[in-house]
Amino acid sequence: MHRVAVIGGDGIGPEIIREGTKVLDAAGDRFGFSLGWEEFELGADRYLSTGELLTEDDKLELSRFRAIYFGAIGDERVQPGILEKGILLALRFHFDQYINLRPIRLLEGVTTPLAGKKPADIDFVVVRENTEDFYVGMGGRFRGSQKATLEVQRELYSVRFGLDVESDAEEIAYQIGIITREGSRRVIRFACEQAERRRKKLTSVDKANVLSDVYGLWREVFSEVTASYPDITTEFNFVDAVTMWFVKNPEWFDVVVTPNMFGDIITDLGAMIQGGMGLAPGGNINPTGTSMFEPIHGSAPKYKGQGVANPMATVWAGSMLLDHLGEYEAAEGVLKALGQSILDGVVTRDMGGSARTSDVGDYVAALIRRQ
Ligand code: IPM
Ligand code: MN
Repeated sequence: MHRVAVIGGDGIGPEIIREGTKVLDAAGDRFGFSLGWEEFELGADRYLSTGELLTEDDKLELSRFRAIYFGAIGDERVQPGILEKGILLALRFHFDQYINLRPIRLLEGVTTPLAGKKPADIDFVVVRENTEDFYVGMGGRFRGSQKATLEVQRELYSVRFGLDVESDAEEIAYQIGIITREGSRRVIRFACEQAERRRKKLTSVDKANVLSDVYGLWREVFSEVTASYPDITTEFNFVDAVTMWFVKNPEWFDVVVTPNMFGDIITDLGAMIQGGMGLAPGGNINPTGTSMFEPIHGSAPKYKGQGVANPMATVWAGSMLLDHLGEYEAAEGVLKALGQSILDGVVTRDMGGSARTSDVGDYVAALIRRQ
């Protein structure tokens, strides 16, 4: 038996996770294992009633699991950023889930907005660094009357921008991005291992031509690490250019490795070319600790409880979860059944069908039992 922690979260989160656990249970029956689900009530409701986000107790309890199955968080009643930073990012950071693995793959029968591109053209993975960069939460805002103004800011403020640092009418904000040698090394190494098992091509996406300190270090480490993988072809792309190539020539890519923020941005683009946010899964991985699998979309509060949300990204994330637990056959079986459900037209309305959220889960689960 595998024990798995479940965080449904907000909005459509609980309903898509319900389909995900249904499908994985079917995979367990078919492939001979069972899943012990343990639910955690994290999200807006608890925050609004108790003020708690991710507590020390939550962290301790969750640390006993190798995998967390995560729905979505975000709620209109809570100011943007509170739940995202207080729960989702807090989990990624606390459990040092330094790899964010996001497959970009066009499944057979799915429509891509890229004219003329076929499933064979869109099949790569993005390995997003998940604990550093501009996500570390170091920043601040200052204005004249706040005497905390530092010399360095005074300099920036008055010299670089010619503003009056003593005046309350002006204000400055800053955010710091951190890249470490070890943080880059471990994620780039993981990306190399992925590339070895795939088509052996690895692309670094950065912006070393402008943010040359942080991404200069990143590039240096990329060159050092990839030197030990002589059979992998490597290249550097700037992030602005890569958005162009993802659209024009997605077939060029096999494994893409990138710092946190660019990884966030380019995987939404990736989601669109693979058929939409309803089909984009992700894994937040710590190879020796607690990992977490989730759809990359948000909580879509306006669709909450209507039974129209697409559970496919969550089901696919579930397949990644099984793979992580070593249930390779079952992981493949889930993905295969998901693909068959698409071919059979059992899809929700965002994909042009009329199936409801639970119809998709029922159908995929039934296909797995018949495999
Ligand atoms: C994602 C999301 C998160 C991120 C937000 C909700 C914090 O956009 O998983 O891509 O920026 O990483
Ligand atoms: Mn995102």
